[in-house]
Amino acid sequence: MTKKNDTKQLIDKLDETHALSRDEWICLIRDRTADDADYLFERAQKVRIRHYGRDVYIRGLIEFTNYCKNDCFYCGIRKSNKNAERYRLTKEQILSCCELGYSLGFRTFVLQGGEDGSFTDDRLTDLVSSIRMRWNDCAITLSVGERSYESYRQLYDAGANRFLLRHETYDDTHYRKLHPSGLSAAQRKQCLWDLKEIGYQVGTGFMVGSPYQTFENLADDMLFLKELNPQMVGIGPFIPHHDTPFADQKAGSADLTLFLLGLIRLLLPKVLLPATTALGTVDSDGREKGILAGANVIMPNLSPPQVREKYLLYDNKLCTGDEAAESLRSLTQRMQKIGYEIQVSRGDSLNV
Ligand code: 5AD
Repeated sequence: MTKKNDTKQLIDKLDETHALSRDEWICLIRDRTADDADYLFERAQKVRIRHYGRDVYIRGLIEFTNYCKNDCFYCGIRKSNKNAERYRLTKEQILSCCELGYSLGFRTFVLQGGEDGSFTDDRLTDLVSSIRMRWNDCAITLSVGERSYESYRQLYDAGANRFLLRHETYDDTHYRKLHPSGLSAAQRKQCLWDLKEIGYQVGTGFMVGSPYQTFENLADDMLFLKELNPQMVGIGPFIPHHDTPFADQKAGSADLTLFLLGLIRLLLPKVLLPATTALGTVDSDGREKGILAGANVIMPNLSPPQVREKYLLYDNKLCTGDEAAESLRSLTQRMQKIGYEIQVSRGDSLNV
């Protein structure tokens, strides 16, 4: 027997104790090899199978508005991007997306949008309660950015169950390199704690390989995940968008994203972990590889085909324009090929 190297020992430790120190995170992420990654993925799959079997949960993603009052340096729908063709779906259009999604087997609807002031508390609440009334067996997930405690509360009372809000990066200095002044890491985190307190199942996450990101930043992100203990964690590689200040920055790598997915599976064994669209964009087998690294959720696009290419957060974002049904069929086949089964159910997190 050869002696295990330090990184493999750290992977063992994480698997056993679900925690590492900041220095250990840094070493593990910085010094990883391809061989370590295989070692990690094997363990991550075991853990995922122990809790969730070979089930892959699906979420119907409805991108209902690409208007945004924010000006994040990385994002293609930032306010200053005058080339973005703006749209917002009507209530009827959104309900039609749900209707189609329901008939296809989706039991979670994710309403995602830019921070669009025209969706006031009352308007969003009305939308949520209409969906809640018609599809009471479905989970409603909101991904609509930073709002007040009262607003989050009102939406929860109207029937929303889950909320996705990536913290983007834990470190305040790094946060300010990615966002204009007025946005802060502290405010972002406060929103997450508010959402938790209200009772939402919360999803957070960050981009991998975003400009100026260091191994120390990623270590802090992992420590924050441990502290927040969310039900979901969404991570994907940063991908430049040609009409943003980060147009010429390098994209994040699929390899590092996959490695972090495996680490997060060991850190929070029962968390819901999507293989994201961004991962599928940088690598055509990215979603399969994500599942094999420990992920267990996929979020197919349920938005009307004619608006999909307008919700362009980054260049070349996957949006085939396939009808939703068609893409679900091919997804089911792709998952079967690697031994996994798409599930038609709400797929609630076991991480409570
Ligand atoms: N590359 C990758 N991910 C991005 N996001 C926004 N812009 C980009 C980009 N250029 C992510 C952010 C946001 C989520 C909705 O999309 O992390 O929270």
